Amino acid sequence: MSAQQALPATHRALVQRDYGKPLVVEDIPTPQPVPGSAVLRVEAAAVVSYQKLAYNGTWPNRYLTPIVPGSWAIGRVAAVGPDAVSLQSGALVLFSNFIHARDDPSIAFLSGFADFAQPGSRKLMSGEWRESTYGQYAKVPLENCFPLDEARLCGSPDSGGLGYKIEQLMWAGLALVGYGGLRSIEVKAGETVVIAPATGGFSGAAAVVAVAMGARVIAMGRNKDTMKYLEGLSPRIHTVPMTGNEEEEMKELARFGCIDAFLDLSPAAATESAHLKSAIKSLRAGGRVSLMGGLLGDSVFPYRSVVHKSLTVKGQWMYSPEDARDMIKMIENGILSLNHVSVAGKFSLEQWEQAFEVAAGMKFNDVTVLSG
Ligand SMILES: NC(=O)c1ccc[n+]([C@@H]2O[C@H](COP(=O)([O-])OP(=O)(O)OC[C@H]3O[C@@H](n4cnc5c(N)ncnc54)[C@H](OP(=O)(O)O)[C@@H]3O)[C@@H](O)[C@H]2O)c1
Repeated sequence: MSAQQALPATHRALVQRDYGKPLVVEDIPTPQPVPGSAVLRVEAAAVVSYQKLAYNGTWPNRYLTPIVPGSWAIGRVAAVGPDAVSLQSGALVLFSNFIHARDDPSIAFLSGFADFAQPGSRKLMSGEWRESTYGQYAKVPLENCFPLDEARLCGSPDSGGLGYKIEQLMWAGLALVGYGGLRSIEVKAGETVVIAPATGGFSGAAAVVAVAMGARVIAMGRNKDTMKYLEGLSPRIHTVPMTGNEEEEMKELARFGCIDAFLDLSPAAATESAHLKSAIKSLRAGGRVSLMGGLLGDSVFPYRSVVHKSLTVKGQWMYSPEDARDMIKMIENGILSLNHVSVAGKFSLEQWEQAFEVAAGMKFNDVTVLSG
């Protein structure tokens, strides 16, 4: 194993001392590797559209302070715990911020973001994994580090590389969510899948991933410009406008014939949207539904369609480690291209407010990153 880097005694990180209060850049002790962990030099940490809401006290998902906030990230391994057997110092990795309890896989939280107020996840997020990726260094679980073939991904096309910027690799974290949902309902090549809405960060990425998996996609949405852009990405992406009228939407969906599956990635604001009913009612008998959205309240379901068409309705939170490894292979093998991914902004830790604002208004398939 290659030599560990010497870690500095302190590093700069964003800290939130009190829930809902502004983040502050501080010099804090650099995390040290313990068994089962790696310390990453954070190259680019993701900022999602609702990052600002997560920390300003208005978000329903809570956590205990103080924390170093954060999200998923691309990092370079700076040091590993004594039980690491394959992760090498210097390796570029995708850090997945979906951390599970090792002694109970049913318990999980999102690093630097939310503990969902469950006792086990609260213990982990306020204890061993309190400091996330909005700093120069972050200590993370070994099993949440997915190695990336840097030479292939970032190398020059002249020498067989794909020529991606490290920031573009961040998009993998957005795409993984939809991939987890699509795999959970076994979407196959040749099938037709409705993705609705399909014009958001996670949902737009899901449309691109579904095409790479070999599916035909019907992307539903309200934003005409983004829908046109989506159609331009692949001849297998078709669009149907979300009009709010169930019958109108079903008539449009019927133009595509047999529909095998539906992935819902609604934000809370879309709780009353007609697409949940129109998409489910348009599925073929035996069709499958993956629910991944952020609806906060209860939703009314087309009960008779679910029963009479023997539909499978499956909830899905995030993705499995196997999904992460397989999707990275798709990217490294050129099956899932990142050429469409543009970097909306790369911000320093001090510029966190600007980063959150830019991310809130990100265009489809943009990524916004923070790095210390
Ligand atoms: N299950 C999981 O593991 C998981 C993981 C990550 C995220 N999520 C959830 O996924 C949700 C979507 O994430 P995202 O990144 O795609 O969100 P986003 O970037 O904020 O985009 C929101 C999308 O919803 C549409 N929308 C907003 N209000 C609407 C309304 N009233 N009716 C119909 N459509 C509406 C927007 O369309 P317009 O362009 O027309 O406004 C846009 O397409 C989040 O709320 C999050 O909770 C779930």
